[in-house]
Amino acid sequence: MRGLRHLSSGFVSNVTPSIEEKIGQGLLLQRGHPINTLKMRIQSYFGDRYSVFDSLSPHVTTQQCFDDLLVPRDHVSRSPSDTFYVNPEVCLRPHTSAHQTEFLRRGETNFIVFGDCYRRDEIDASHYPVFHQVEGVRVWKQADAGSSAEQRTAFVIEDLKHTLEGLAKEVFQSEIVLRWNEDYFPFTHPSLELEVAHEGDWLELLGCGVIRPEILENCGLQNHVGWAFGAGLERLAMRLFNIPDIRLFWSQDPRFLEQFKPDEVTKFEPYSKYPPCLKDMSFWTPESFEVNDFYAAVREVAGDLVEKVDLIDQFQHPKTLRHSHCYRITYRSMDRNLVNSEVDQLQEEVRESCSSKLGIELR
Ligand code: DAH
Repeated sequence: MRGLRHLSSGFVSNVTPSIEEKIGQGLLLQRGHPINTLKMRIQSYFGDRYSVFDSLSPHVTTQQCFDDLLVPRDHVSRSPSDTFYVNPEVCLRPHTSAHQTEFLRRGETNFIVFGDCYRRDEIDASHYPVFHQVEGVRVWKQADAGSSAEQRTAFVIEDLKHTLEGLAKEVFQSEIVLRWNEDYFPFTHPSLELEVAHEGDWLELLGCGVIRPEILENCGLQNHVGWAFGAGLERLAMRLFNIPDIRLFWSQDPRFLEQFKPDEVTKFEPYSKYPPCLKDMSFWTPESFEVNDFYAAVREVAGDLVEKVDLIDQFQHPKTLRHSHCYRITYRSMDRNLVNSEVDQLQEEVRESCSSKLGIELR
């Protein structure tokens, strides 16, 4: 595993202070926050027949989060370049699927789980290292789902599609066009993805499928069948509330928060889009370069003042064979005008921090 210095003596967590700050902020439970309003809509759709869990710690074991879900040993999602590790066995959940098996073992047969999730990822208007998901699971005794394996799979898929199409209609409360695609997830077979038509494009709503029987058996559920789904809340909320940038969900600015009332969906009125400030940065990469480490280092210095980071040029030196990358960092505040001197200073700090932490050589 590259990037995770995980010899038991010398383990260094890749959880940064700005990520730690997000743990426990509780946007899901904050009345009036768009994330809470969306959560309440989803919860009311599922009604009393489903148990709801919304306050589980985001610290999960790699067993819960990967092994129990049959995620292959070499799957990228396990890598410390993708997942935040607190120690080699405990990570910040990258998905709410991490809670499926604990509740199945406890005998829950219909449940939904809401939670904040954490992933190391690129930087742009729709990616942020902290986001929210909802997970849903429903299981039946085999005998209640049909008398042959094909019948049971068809029964589960039909219920799954019906349930999730209903969910999408409830969430958007308007005429929407949906389509199903085949997909792949390690924990379901068959696996599907549901998309909704949006501004001439297709927006992914959720992933889902028929739970692999080994997972149910390992939870003591022999002779059972069921479905599971997982959906990201930010992408839905961005569309419902017309929120243009994912960083806004974390804004404490009253001009953001006061626009929203509990359980009401209203369109966000941008208070103004402040001008961006672009800075380029070129460097020679070390052999072990992980781009997510670079993104994390930029965020650690610039916080929510960084809007996006784009790779704009790269080449390999013909003689030394070293690789050079050039990134364009877009700085922009959601709440105020950034002055040039401030951005210059930030950029200088980003450069210093990256060169000391990542073993890159600035050009
Ligand atoms: N955990 C998946 C993700 O984060 C989403 C998902 C897919 C959840 C299929 C499920 C499922 O429960 O059955 O991308």
